[in-house]
Amino acid sequence: MKLLVIGSGGREHALAWKLAQSERIKRVYVAPGNGGTGTESKCENLPVPGTIGSVEGQQALCTFARQQGIALTVVGPEAPLTAGIVDRFRAEGLAIIGPDKNAARLEGSKVFSKSFMEKYGVSTAQSRSFAEYTQALAYAAEHFKQTDQPLVIKADGLAGGKGVIIAQQYAEAAITLAAFMKEGSLGAAGKAVVLEAFLVGREVSVLAAVSVVPGKPGRILPFIAARDHKRRFEGDQGPNTGGMGAIAPVPDFSEAAAEHFRRFILEPSLRGMEQEGMDYRGFLFFGLMVQDTFCSLLEYNVRLGDPETQALVPLMDFDLTQLCDAILTGTLQDFSFRWKAGAVCAPVAVATGYPGSYQTGYPISLDQERFSQTGALLFIAGAEKKQNPEEDSGLYTAGGRVLGVSAWGKDPEDAWERAYRGMGAISFEGMAFRTDIGCGPPHL
Ligand code: AMP
Ligand code: GLY
Repeated sequence: MKLLVIGSGGREHALAWKLAQSERIKRVYVAPGNGGTGTESKCENLPVPGTIGSVEGQQALCTFARQQGIALTVVGPEAPLTAGIVDRFRAEGLAIIGPDKNAARLEGSKVFSKSFMEKYGVSTAQSRSFAEYTQALAYAAEHFKQTDQPLVIKADGLAGGKGVIIAQQYAEAAITLAAFMKEGSLGAAGKAVVLEAFLVGREVSVLAAVSVVPGKPGRILPFIAARDHKRRFEGDQGPNTGGMGAIAPVPDFSEAAAEHFRRFILEPSLRGMEQEGMDYRGFLFFGLMVQDTFCSLLEYNVRLGDPETQALVPLMDFDLTQLCDAILTGTLQDFSFRWKAGAVCAPVAVATGYPGSYQTGYPISLDQERFSQTGALLFIAGAEKKQNPEEDSGLYTAGGRVLGVSAWGKDPEDAWERAYRGMGAISFEGMAFRTDIGCGPPHL
């Protein structure tokens, strides 16, 4: 079997690695891939004309899949999904994992996803949606007259992580609303907004396999919980990033909280998807805020999380290609996950300056022998492979988030220890990482 994975980050490296482990798989093409996916066993990078979200790029991928007899395509990021890549592939009879364009609105439009949550009674923060700037401004003014709680402002469309602002005061809310709705700082994505109550708690990511097709009972099978660490600096300080590291499972996500999630988030979401007649055969990410045993849904993402996937993949004691089959054939009820015992700690190394401006093009040195002793996996996010390199690894930095180390351990402390010993075997100019992913250093 030949597979196609679409995307170029650490998530796609982890997915390609895991899919390639299956004995059924001969080749995994990664489009466009990165310096890690290009050299992974059984994997090969595939250049894409334009971008993977563009019509040109999607058409090229579709043609490639048809001509090469690709048995299955797995889509990593949201942009191709919201642009309708699944519809395009299915129209040509090609098997692809992901929601169709209509169902992808669960991530592509916050106004749509909030109204969906409310319609089907999904536990979530109270909110109002606005397409008129003056009305949104009036609502924000009223909010700050009545309470000193922050107001969460969410741009409707995809904004690459820049669409959510937690306004502490009215002035900040007014500036944000003007930028999003009047000045068009986010383009079409900011023309409408959701204004939402601020929630406190700890964030948890529950990723899941979904098989919902119109006219049949659907199924959502949740993975074990994971946690991203979004802030750039230790102690959850500093600006938001694409993720500075992840862990799985999450020790503070109790069985009672998981039960609350299933009853008040997962089940009503499934009912809603069925009743809306959605075609959703893919992965779904529930972004939760958890306080004690009470879960609220912050967002749906219509894909796997990055870097959560890098923390989950080493715990998967099952064939991911078979899970994909079960999603597509509607047989998730017969699929049972097997998760390895123990824990994974997966810190990410970034370029100094990230998430602001940073330099690229530095050689990455890797002490393979020291790294191997940790048993960890190296997943590349933003690095490319060069011919005739100065360093043995052949890798050069090419992005803000450069790489991640995913270490399995018998418990969170063991995983932490192995992950950071792994990090210690890698270096590049300006390399930076948080040391408190998961349990933090044992001496703290
Ligand atoms: P979202 O894209 O909706 O997940 O929002 C991005 C981030 O903003 C989340 O991961 C949270 O850290 C934060 N956030 C979103 N909504 C809320 C909320 N209602 N209360 C507190 N923090 C929030
Ligand atoms: N880790 C958050 C995301 O994938 O959007």
